[in-house]
Amino acid sequence: MTRPTVMAVFGTRPEAIKMAPVVQALAADPDINTRVVITAQHRQLLDQVIDLFRLPVHHDLDIMQQRQTLPELSARIMTRFSPILMEEKPDLLLVHGDTSTTCIASLAAFYQQVAVGHVEAGLRTDDLYNPFPEEMNRRVTSQLARLHFAPTETAKAALLREGHPLDHITVTGNTVIDALLQTVATNKTKQFPEFADLPTDKRLLIVTAHRRENWGEPMRQMAEAFRDILDRFPDTHLVFPMHPNPVVREVVEPILADHPRASLIQPLDYAPFCHLMARATLVLTDSGGIQEEAPSLGKPVLVMRTTTERPEALYAGTVTLVGTERATIRDKASELLGDPAAYAAMSKAVNPYGDGKAAMRTHQAIRHFLGLSAERPAEFAPLA
Ligand code: UD1
Ligand code: UDP
Repeated sequence: MTRPTVMAVFGTRPEAIKMAPVVQALAADPDINTRVVITAQHRQLLDQVIDLFRLPVHHDLDIMQQRQTLPELSARIMTRFSPILMEEKPDLLLVHGDTSTTCIASLAAFYQQVAVGHVEAGLRTDDLYNPFPEEMNRRVTSQLARLHFAPTETAKAALLREGHPLDHITVTGNTVIDALLQTVATNKTKQFPEFADLPTDKRLLIVTAHRRENWGEPMRQMAEAFRDILDRFPDTHLVFPMHPNPVVREVVEPILADHPRASLIQPLDYAPFCHLMARATLVLTDSGGIQEEAPSLGKPVLVMRTTTERPEALYAGTVTLVGTERATIRDKASELLGDPAAYAAMSKAVNPYGDGKAAMRTHQAIRHFLGLSAERPAEFAPLA
């Protein structure tokens, strides 16, 4: 009997981090022929994750271009990925999340009537333009998917509200927690030379920002707010691993580069970044994945957005939405840095997003779909 083929496709850093545990589980299963396609919508950011998790790559579409636009990116993914699907005819295509790679690869699969499994399905803000274009990408992907791997009950409820059948949905937990736990455990005793110059007597503020809707004026306001915070708290040091997109650097560098307590650095590989998060006093970000990781490490997160598709840590009280205005970011950060009680209330470790077994549940649900196992997995439920 020929083994069924499961193909995973991804293109950006967070997709790779979150798909890695699933690819590892599938690749270890002798009943499944696992194939991996990278669109390389990101290049350097993606390659370091592939190396870290030692992921097999069967096709590299190498599509990234500097300052790529959404139409160009989408066209390149569709035209380069479709022939591979046609050639390999997988029994299931796995996509992750809400990037252009996710949405366009799913549409390519639909055109060839290949079933799609969507990892991290059902996240919603209910504002089509926020985050942009991710909210639309994930909604379209949900329409195209046959299997929905929802990280939480909230995500499952969103999918049910939209009419997706209950037996197409599995609550798995988020695979980012699998990746984080694996990475922290493997690198527990490692020394990271990239941090040799970081002061050990200062409270560390870790910052990342990249979202399209924050390009330009919102990002300028954020950078001004960081400067204000550093000036107000001389015992703090800011570390900003900057996204390689020149659109981010052009705004941030003129405001922060000359500050003696700001380190504007290259993006970090995932292992050192996890180490840095674990050392942080406070995380300020517009990232999706970091909203899931930092609470699990007990780090308060100020999310520089007006909405989030990840409400669970908001409810748990470890994440706060602060928008993108200078005064609001500065004042909320000041409250936490200046008031130990406010800080303590936000810095408890919570794990609403996963228990490290999301990839195992995803793998089991895939086996069930392929007719390799009779049982569906027991769903993820966070500890109260
Ligand atoms: C993309 C995703 C976003 C995701 C983010 C994760 C889309 C539309 N956006 O946004 O959902 O949250 O990735 O980081 O799918 N660049 C490099 N090297 C790299 C990566 C990027 O130089 O390794 C530069 C290039 O100039 C590139 C630009 O960054 O054109 C933007 O990359 P792109 O993938 O289009 O958008 P992101 O903002 O990274
Ligand atoms: N990350 C990393 N190095 C960095 C910054 C972030 O490895 O310098 C990781 C982070 O831990 C998380 C992921 O990249 O797992 C988030 O990526 P990003 O913020 O680019 O995308 P998003 O999650 O917003 O889609």
